[in-house]
Amino acid sequence: MRRYIYRLREDELGELLAENPVPVEILNRDGEWLTFAVYDPLEGIEPLSSEEVDEGWKDWRQGFGPVEVDDFLIVPPWKKVVFINPGMAFGTGFHPTTRLCIRMLKETLKEGDSILDVGTGSGVLAIVSRLLGAGRVVGIDISKDALRACEENARLNGVEVETLLGRPGELAGSFDVVVANLELQIFEKELPDILRLVGRQAVLSGIYRRDELLSLLDLLGQEGFQADRILEEEDWYCVRVGHAGD
Ligand SMILES: C[S@@+](CC[C@H](N)C(=O)[O-])C[C@H]1O[C@@H](n2cnc3c(N)ncnc32)[C@H](O)[C@@H]1O
Repeated sequence: MRRYIYRLREDELGELLAENPVPVEILNRDGEWLTFAVYDPLEGIEPLSSEEVDEGWKDWRQGFGPVEVDDFLIVPPWKKVVFINPGMAFGTGFHPTTRLCIRMLKETLKEGDSILDVGTGSGVLAIVSRLLGAGRVVGIDISKDALRACEENARLNGVEVETLLGRPGELAGSFDVVVANLELQIFEKELPDILRLVGRQAVLSGIYRRDELLSLLDLLGQEGFQADRILEEEDWYCVRVGHAGD
């Protein structure tokens, strides 16, 4: 495969992408000038150079982030876009605890799974679950404002999320995957009620540093659950659990 290197002003690239949204890999930014690579030559513009690349398609795709030009965010078609109205409720996706849940859900969720998002906040995890192929998705929160935000964000993303005001103890039944991005103090009170709703696995996040992690693992053991995967980012932990012995 060949890649073609160009140098254009950012506004020129923006106009070009608005007309012809091809994937672009930004190589260098020098003031308003961008040096970038594309994998199909651009019509009517002479490239600075071109070169043969031998990476596979998958590696090639990893080089492409979104490109922001004024009001536009140009995103390659293989990325899943999530719209979250900022400032409406916790959960923009920028906190490590939320990012860890998204990664863990990606590894855990199966097509058609039912999902309960405990402490849904902005609804980001509920929305991501739908985009990952979940079936029924329920977001529960003790905050009316959070549920309003979750409902509006779900509409923005064109996905269906059921919302419930309350605590997990008020729910019956079970969900294939229960995701809860809360904090240790809340897990200390709510964990038995959360685990009662787990059909297959739970993803628990909002755990800071190793002492909190050990406390959570201890609580889980007391309830007959054990961790089968732990992710960490900046001292925050996300734990996936199933029934002990499963
Ligand atoms: C840290 S935010 C997580 C938001 C979002 N799920 C995310 O991952 O970005 C925690 C949310 O849990 C809610 N919450 C706190 N205690 C709760 C409880 N006992 N039951 C249900 N929701 C609770 C809060 O109102 C808040 O919206």
